[in-house]
Amino acid sequence: MAKMTRRASLGVGLGALVTACGGGGTPTPTPSPIGTATPRPTPSPTPTPTPTATGSIAAAAAAKNIKFGSAFAWSTAGANAGSFANPQYAALLERDCNILVPENELKWESIRPSATQFDFTRADDMLAYAQRQNMEMRGHTLLWYVEERFPGWQRTYDYGTNPRAEAERLIREHVTQVASRYASSITSWDVVNEAVEPSTGGLRQHSLSATVGNDPSLLDLAFRSARDVLPTGELVYNDFMDWGSTTHRNGVLDLLRGFRNRNVPVDTLGIQAHIGFFSNGTAQSIVDAQRPAMEAWLDQVVALGYRLKITEMDVNDRNRAGTIAQRDADCATYARGWLDMLLAYNELDEVLVWGMADRYSWLQNFGTPRADGTALRPTPYDNDFAPKPLRQTYIDAFNAASVRT
Ligand code: G3I
Repeated sequence: MAKMTRRASLGVGLGALVTACGGGGTPTPTPSPIGTATPRPTPSPTPTPTPTATGSIAAAAAAKNIKFGSAFAWSTAGANAGSFANPQYAALLERDCNILVPENELKWESIRPSATQFDFTRADDMLAYAQRQNMEMRGHTLLWYVEERFPGWQRTYDYGTNPRAEAERLIREHVTQVASRYASSITSWDVVNEAVEPSTGGLRQHSLSATVGNDPSLLDLAFRSARDVLPTGELVYNDFMDWGSTTHRNGVLDLLRGFRNRNVPVDTLGIQAHIGFFSNGTAQSIVDAQRPAMEAWLDQVVALGYRLKITEMDVNDRNRAGTIAQRDADCATYARGWLDMLLAYNELDEVLVWGMADRYSWLQNFGTPRADGTALRPTPYDNDFAPKPLRQTYIDAFNAASVRT
């Protein structure tokens, strides 16, 4: 494991990054500790004009041995979706990405119509597109440990007279079948997603966890089953680490320590990076608010021998007041702080965003709409597929990053 080489302190720090968890229900974002007052419009410097779509984000990243990519979707041709079948969206993927991840099409909800069936049709289409474009594809997710994300049949599943044995059979079968199908092409998986309860820091408890008395054994089994299929694959624990609360992120750290103590084959922590503005102040002041706490936490993660990966980055400006230009400048500043801090870790060599165009971002339908009724601006391209300052931010951050060794 390469030694951590955090860069010297940077001009732009990092801040109270509060993430919108993507787990069950519609969670409300946790306010940052520096205040939960309703954000006020904050003066931002006049932004530089929106950059033309020069160069490629992936090329800037590759110059530092970093991969850059995005989530994408399946749709029928001609559909207005963040799909490879939508030529306007595909153009963004092909310009700026060299790795892709299916936003939904490798989840249980998508590939498991019943306890006895698998349906890989859409995922196969998406992999074929990535391969045609000479792009990699990573897998998300073999076990989303949130009941609201179980397929309907699983939420009422009868685990029989020996629930532990049946739950183990179900998990082992799923992980083995799915990882084996794609073993020659998908070698990095979010094996387990969001297993830590934000409010307690403990493991989430639900009908599946109850089969094993709420111990972590099904998580361990998922990773061990994946390792059996992928002896050299990258096995990732993925979570959102609610940075507004130490409870959740320390619960994740406890889980990571437990994996190490039980010799569970987990290689990498996936940091979703659904960052957002949930406190007042200028974007710069926010990004500097919690850097020491966040770095101290990440230092502990890499000290346990984990690599790092940004898996789902976007910037939620729902609460950010100001003009479009001011909001875009704030998102760019905020994202740069997050990227600079994480890219200072040599253990991080991959950054994926959760969508390339605002128009198709999950955030447009998550939580309450903006008070001014405008669309959120969380991704590198706007509703009309025009590049935004945030796109340039990714390029600038990679240009400033050290070469991964
Ligand atoms: O495909 C069906 C469609 O047939 C149906 O008509 C429609 C209406 O019910 O639903 C469609 O499925 C939706 C799916 O997105 C595809 O659009 C599901 O209901 C909806 O729940 C699902 O939301 C996804 C969510 O995860 C839950 O799986 C979001 O698109 C996706 O962006 C979001 O991504 C998660 C990550 O997997 C994990 N980290 C958090 C992140 C954000 O929540």
